[in-house]
Amino acid sequence: MRTAVLGASGLVGRKMLTLLEDCSWLSGDPVLLTSARSAGTEISFRGRNLTCREVSAEDFAGVDLALFSAGGGTSRQWAPIAAAAGCVVVDNSSAWRMDPLVPLVVPEINGQLAKSQPGIIANPNCSTIQIVMAVSPLDKVFGVKECHVTTLQAISGAGQAAVQEILQQTRDFPEDSNSAGFFPRPMAYNVLPAIGAKTEFGGYEEETKVLHEMRRIMDRKDDLHITCTATRVPVLDGHSAAIRVVCEKAITPQKALAVLEKVPGVIVTADPHDFHTAREIAGNNDVYVGRVRQDPGCERSLLMWVVADNLLKGAAWNAVQIAGVVAGEKRR
Ligand SMILES: NC(=O)c1ccc[n+]([C@@H]2O[C@H](COP(=O)([O-])OP(=O)(O)OC[C@H]3O[C@@H](n4cnc5c(N)ncnc54)[C@H](OP(=O)(O)O)[C@@H]3O)[C@@H](O)[C@H]2O)c1
Repeated sequence: MRTAVLGASGLVGRKMLTLLEDCSWLSGDPVLLTSARSAGTEISFRGRNLTCREVSAEDFAGVDLALFSAGGGTSRQWAPIAAAAGCVVVDNSSAWRMDPLVPLVVPEINGQLAKSQPGIIANPNCSTIQIVMAVSPLDKVFGVKECHVTTLQAISGAGQAAVQEILQQTRDFPEDSNSAGFFPRPMAYNVLPAIGAKTEFGGYEEETKVLHEMRRIMDRKDDLHITCTATRVPVLDGHSAAIRVVCEKAITPQKALAVLEKVPGVIVTADPHDFHTAREIAGNNDVYVGRVRQDPGCERSLLMWVVADNLLKGAAWNAVQIAGVVAGEKRR
């Protein structure tokens, strides 16, 4: 399939290009699209340098598939134009995720929705993806009634400008690291329990995204009670999530592990004291589930620690997997 990447110079776009190097369904070189800022930038692909160009409507003519990773506003502007040109758009922004005509896809859970889909397919929020990878399989067997999550989200989840800012703040610490810049408060050596705009009930946008997107992917309504506190932590790559589920049926760590170890793309750690950390798993496509343990005193409730690379399974890998479904490729 002839493919374009919009946002090719960004953190996610560059990961997409690395993953596309191994895709047998790709035909020819991908078209690298950016804003005017990065037009002319060269990016290595399969050993040769390809040049980014400023996106225009003509770029989508003759392209079968477009991977978008350039922010919500850019996506709202260009996705309808690309789709009208006959492209299937896999969009990584939040622009289309709650549009009832646009499927919201995690291939291991609802990948069939990406088959024969013309137009736009939405990639979920990075935290949502790793949470549903662990919770949805448990829901199918034990019936999840409640899910309570605290996320610990990496700086790269906010893009390359955020990464540059924390590297600078860390170098300057303790001098000159107290000024708020990209983040609302200083981020170096700190934890911020606020991601995105304020929402009702004292919430923040990221928490609302997790709630609505989880229900949509799991095909559940408000009978699935979800709470989320989303925090930003000074980790470069890799989101972590502390999760508590309450089920309709009795659940034990052993039963949950037996379900989760069969899920493609999930790596479980059986010892309840053992876990993976963000730094250990950065650069991997899988979702890592550890510290799976009983909620003391409740036979229907379980606690776990779920970690994944936000730029890979949380973004680029999930999008390339969707592209593989679109291309009719067997899932790896
Ligand atoms: N980072 C993550 O972990 C993550 C996870 C899930 C979803 N996402 C979503 O993925 C998208 C990209 O994230 P990122 O972290 O890769 O951000 P990033 O590092 O800041 O990169 C943004 C990319 O978008 C391009 N872009 C920005 N405005 C544009 C415009 N008006 N026209 C054309 N291209 C434009 C930039 O091109 P220039 O170089 O020319 O500015 C750059 O290639 C965002 O929507 C984000 O919400 C990110």
